[in-house]
Amino acid sequence: MTNYKMTNTEFKIGIVGAGAMGAGIAQVAAGAGHRVIIFDTNNAILVSAQKKLDRILNRLIEKQRISEINAELLMGRINWVNQLTDLSESKLIIEAIVENLAIKKSVFSELETLVHEDCILASNTSALSIAAISSACKKKDRVMGIHFFNPAPLMPLVEVIPAIGTDQNLIEQVVELMKQWGKIPVVAKDTPGFIVNRIARPFYGEALRIYEEGWEGIAEGHVGFATIDWAMREVGGFRMGPFELMDYIGNDINYAVTESVFTSFFYDPRYRPSIIQKRYSEAGWLGRKSGQGYYDYSENANAPEAVKDMVLGQKIVNRILCLLINEAVDALYLRIAHTDDIELAMTLGVNYPKGLLDWGKEIGYDKVLGQINTLHQLYTEERYRPSQLLIKWAETMNNQ
Ligand code: NAI
Repeated sequence: MTNYKMTNTEFKIGIVGAGAMGAGIAQVAAGAGHRVIIFDTNNAILVSAQKKLDRILNRLIEKQRISEINAELLMGRINWVNQLTDLSESKLIIEAIVENLAIKKSVFSELETLVHEDCILASNTSALSIAAISSACKKKDRVMGIHFFNPAPLMPLVEVIPAIGTDQNLIEQVVELMKQWGKIPVVAKDTPGFIVNRIARPFYGEALRIYEEGWEGIAEGHVGFATIDWAMREVGGFRMGPFELMDYIGNDINYAVTESVFTSFFYDPRYRPSIIQKRYSEAGWLGRKSGQGYYDYSENANAPEAVKDMVLGQKIVNRILCLLINEAVDALYLRIAHTDDIELAMTLGVNYPKGLLDWGKEIGYDKVLGQINTLHQLYTEERYRPSQLLIKWAETMNNQ
C-alpha cells in the first residue's frame, strides 16, 4: 500500500455532483487549503453552485468570518468541470450525486479507470450500502463512505464508513484528514443508516405514531403536531420538535431515508415508516421548501397553539426518548460504533442535547427498559423490542 500523508494540502480532492452536498463539501475542502475539482453532468447546476458559493463567501466576508483575500483564494482553489476525466489527478474523490445505487455504481466503475492506484474513492450516500457501491470496482479496498451532514460547511460531524474489504490504513488517514478539515469524524459500520440515521428513527417514527393514534389526548390537526413538538423542545430539551424538524428536512427526504432503513433491515418493525408521512410526501406537503408541511409556512398563517400540559409532555418525551436510548444501546450492542462515537454522532449530527447512552444512565436503564416493556406488553409488537444490552444493563443496575 502506498504510504502518503493524506493531510498534505497539495493533494487534489475530486467531487462528483455539485448539488447541495457536493458544493458544500467542496467549500470545506478548499477552505482547508486543498485544490478541488468538482464535476457535474448538469452545466446549469455548475453555474448556480458557483454563484451560490460566491454569495455564501460574500456573506461570510460581511460578517468578518473570512477575509476578502481568503475568500478569493478559496474560490480560486475550486475548478468547476463537466468532464469526469478532469478528476484523474485526485487523491481522494467524494461522490455526492443522486441517491441511486445503479447510477452510483456506474460512476464508481468509470472513476476507477481514470484515477491512480492510490486514489481513495468515497461516497457521501445517506443510506446505500458501501459494500454494494464498492462491488462496482475491481480494487475494492480503497472504497469507503464519507458521510457529511447538511449543510456540510456548518455541521461538524462526518461518519467514516469502511466496507467489508476497505483497507484500515485508509480509514485512519481519512479520519486524520477530516480532523484537518475541522470536522469531527466518527467511524461507523456499513449498516443501514450508519449511526445517526439509524438511531434517530424513533424521533420521527414514534412521534408520528403518537400523533396517528391520538394517543393520550393528542388532538388531531395542528394542535397535535404542536403539542408533540412543544413537549420534545420544552420538556425534552431537544432543539427542534420532530414535526418541525421533518418539515425542515423535507418530508420526501425524511420518508425516503426511513423507508430505505426499514427495507434494508429486512422490514424490521422497529423502523416501519408512517402512512401519514408517506401521504404528506405524496401530496407535495414537503415542509418549509414547499410552503406547507405539518405546518403552514405562508405569510399570514397562524402558528398553532400547543396543549402545554406537563404530565402529557413528560409522557410524550418518555415514550420517544426511551426508544431512542434503546436504539443507541442496541447500536453499541451490535458494534455499529464505539460508545464515544455514538454519543458524538447524536449530539453533533442531529444536535441532541445529551448523548443517548449517558442520558439512559441518568434516567436509569431499568426505567428505560420498564417503559419499553410497558409498550411491548400493550402492543405485543416487535417494534417495542428492547435491546439485549439494555436488558443486561438494567439487570446490572438492579443488582447494584
Ligand atoms: P442534489 O440533488 O442537490 O445534487 C445531486 C447532484 O448530482 C446534481 O447536481 C446532479 O446534477 C448531479 N448528478 C446526478 N447524476 C450525476 C452523475 N451521474 N454524474 C455527475 N453528477 C450527477 O443532492 P444532494 O442533496 O446534494 O445529495 C447528494 C448525495 O448526498 C446523495 O447520495 C444523498 O443521499 C447524500 N446526502 C444528502 C444529504 C442532504 O441532506 N441533502 C445529507 C447527507 C448525504
